[in-house]
Amino acid sequence: MSASVTVRVPAKVNVQLAVGAARPDGFHDLANVFLAVGLHDEVTATPADTLRVTCEGPGSDQVPLDRTNLAARAAELLAARHGIAPDVHLHIAKDIPVAGGMAGGSADGAAALVACDALWGTHASRAELLDICAELGSDVPFSLVGGAALGTGRGEKLQPLEVGGTFHWVFAVADGGLSTPAVYREFDRLTPDAPAPEASPALLEALRTGDAEALAATVTNDLQPAALSLFPALRDTLATGTAAGALAALVSGSGPTTAFLTPDAPSAQKVAAALTASGTCRTARVATAPAQGAQIIRSAPKA
Ligand code: C5P
Repeated sequence: MSASVTVRVPAKVNVQLAVGAARPDGFHDLANVFLAVGLHDEVTATPADTLRVTCEGPGSDQVPLDRTNLAARAAELLAARHGIAPDVHLHIAKDIPVAGGMAGGSADGAAALVACDALWGTHASRAELLDICAELGSDVPFSLVGGAALGTGRGEKLQPLEVGGTFHWVFAVADGGLSTPAVYREFDRLTPDAPAPEASPALLEALRTGDAEALAATVTNDLQPAALSLFPALRDTLATGTAAGALAALVSGSGPTTAFLTPDAPSAQKVAAALTASGTCRTARVATAPAQGAQIIRSAPKA
C-alpha cells in the first residue's frame, strides 16, 4: 500500500454538443464531442480513519466537501464494490474553473477513483473504472480517458477520436456559475422539437487533420442559446474574444465559461489579454488540446 497517490486530470471543452429531446429518465441523448484541454486538477489520496475531502485553489470555497462531492462518491463506489471501507483523505488542488461547464467536478471524480484504486490496491480493470465513472455522471468517463472522444447516450458511451494536431484555446471564466440541470431545462423550453443528435462528419475530420480553421467553422453547442438566455452578459465576452481574433467563440458545455479557438499560441495570448482587459470576465486562461486523461503523477511509498 502507498502512503499517498496523486492523480492529475484535465478539463474538457465540448467542440460539438448536439442535444436531443428529454428522455423519460430526464436525461438528454447527446452527440457530444469532448476534447480534453490542458487545465488540470490534482487529487491526492492518503489513508485516513474516515472519508474526508479538502480543497484548495480558485473557487474552492464553492466546492462541496460532503458526500455529494464526486470525488467522495467515487471512493465510496469503489470501496463498496470491493467490500472495503472508504477511509481516505482526498485533497483536491483546483485549477479547473468551478461550476464552469468544463467538467471540473467530473474530473475530480475520475481522479479520485484512479487514486483510490492505486492506494487501496483494488486493481480495478479499465472496464470497471469506466463503469463506475458512468455511474458517477455523464462526463466522468471522458475525464478518465482524455484525448478526444465522441460521447453518445447521455454522453457516457465513448468512442475515442483521432486528433491530428495541437489546438490553442482561451477560456474566459465568468463571474458566477450556471447549474447544468437549469441549462438543460431552459434548452427544453427553447427547443420543444429537438431533432435526434448527430455528430458532424466535417467536425470529426477537422479534429483528425488538426485543422483549427476547419474546426472553428464546425464547432456548435446546442446548449449555448439556453446558457445565453440565463446569463446574457456572456454575449459581451463572446464578442470581445471574436474582435480580438479568435477563430471561434462558444459557450463551454452548459457554461458559463466561454471558449475561444485561436490559430496559434501568440493569438491565444492576445485574445486572453483582450478578454482580461475588457472586464467582461473574471479571468482568462490559455490552454492547449488535446490533453491526456486521469494519470498518476506521484505515488509516495509507505515509510
Ligand atoms: O450526469 P450528470 O450528473 O453530470 O448530469 C447533471 C444534470 O445535467 C442531470 O441531472 C440532467 O439534468 C442534465 N443532463 C441531461 N442530459 C445529459 C447529461 C446531463 O439532461 N445527457
